[in-house]
Amino acid sequence: MSEPVIKCENVYKIFGANAEKMLKDSNGNVDAKTFQENGCIVGVNNASFEVAKGEMLVVMGLSGSGKSTLLRCISRLTDATGGKIFIEGQDLLKLNNKDLIDLRRNKMGMVFQSFALLPHKTVVENIAFPLQIKGVKTEDSISKAMDMVKLVGLDGRENYFPRELSGGQQQRVGIARSLAVEPDIWFLDEPFSALDPLIRKEMQDEFLRLQEKLQKTIMFITHDFDEALKLADRIAIMKDGIIEQLDTPANIVLNPATEYVRKFTEEVPREKVLLIEDIMDKTKDNLGDLKVSKDEIIENVAEKILTQEKSVAVVDNNNNIIGSINPAKIINTVFGGRKNNI
Ligand SMILES: Nc1ncnc2c1ncn2[C@@H]1O[C@H](COP(=O)(O)OP(=O)(O)OP(=O)(O)O)[C@@H](O)[C@H]1O
Ligand SMILES: [Mg+2]
Repeated sequence: MSEPVIKCENVYKIFGANAEKMLKDSNGNVDAKTFQENGCIVGVNNASFEVAKGEMLVVMGLSGSGKSTLLRCISRLTDATGGKIFIEGQDLLKLNNKDLIDLRRNKMGMVFQSFALLPHKTVVENIAFPLQIKGVKTEDSISKAMDMVKLVGLDGRENYFPRELSGGQQQRVGIARSLAVEPDIWFLDEPFSALDPLIRKEMQDEFLRLQEKLQKTIMFITHDFDEALKLADRIAIMKDGIIEQLDTPANIVLNPATEYVRKFTEEVPREKVLLIEDIMDKTKDNLGDLKVSKDEIIENVAEKILTQEKSVAVVDNNNNIIGSINPAKIINTVFGGRKNNI
């Protein structure tokens, strides 16, 4: 396996005057309540994980659970209080200022929760600015920026100032600005949260299309489970600074690691997460003519299966039958797993 692009080892971020000393004295066993009683706020508590090249890790959790703080540590907008962070094998905390600036400018892109636009620059100037910092000629940077303006649906507004835009429009400028640079590693902190549903769906689709093509390594924060399911290769669920579980969407729903994760995922429609393979039977008897791939998301084939009288054959990538699924199983999965249904 190739080296992970992002690697965190026991990362802590504690706010407060005594943070470092308290973390040292605690021997890594950080109790948020005790820390708070001593004037320290726990932002991130012992986070260890890796993100592979081309992977999209979605971070979820309630407000204040430490999502933004975790991202800020990895992009070194803030320094972690403890632990190690590696970017492509380089120890982030050991980089000197010049290397850090280089890394940010050429490798990392960020879309912030607060849009962080430059107030005295227009839309197109805001988008072109990071390219110009990288040394791209003004003319070329503006032309690239205009492509991005179109991509996020702001043509006609390229000469507006941020204060003349709505929140969702400002957010789109932030996304366009970060897209323009085409970073290898991309940190997005609730990039679509201020958008209305239609535009949001369009941006998600566009984002997936781009990701398919560009294969960036991405950490993406969202509050919206549907968005997470649509985008994530894996999902991390945070609570009080702790990553309670980091796993594929299907595993998180099927095997929640903690009571909190179970509650968090209770309302998630299983048919949107699970694959046919996750619920098929091993038997291959008495099959009808219809075949479905083991890799289909249940939602996409449910209707087709429900209209069959016989069991449906499940096939692998080589079209070999590896199991079966009957309509009752679909009904059970869709309605059986949740309370107050049927
Ligand atoms: N600069 C700071 N100084 C002190 N405490 C901070 C600071 N930044 C964040 N915190 C605290 O760290 C915790 C985690 O905050 P963070 O912003 O990471 O949450 P979040 O999961 O991103 O929440 P949201 O979904 O609301 O954006 C919170 O308790 C917050 O009050
Ligand atoms: Mg946040």
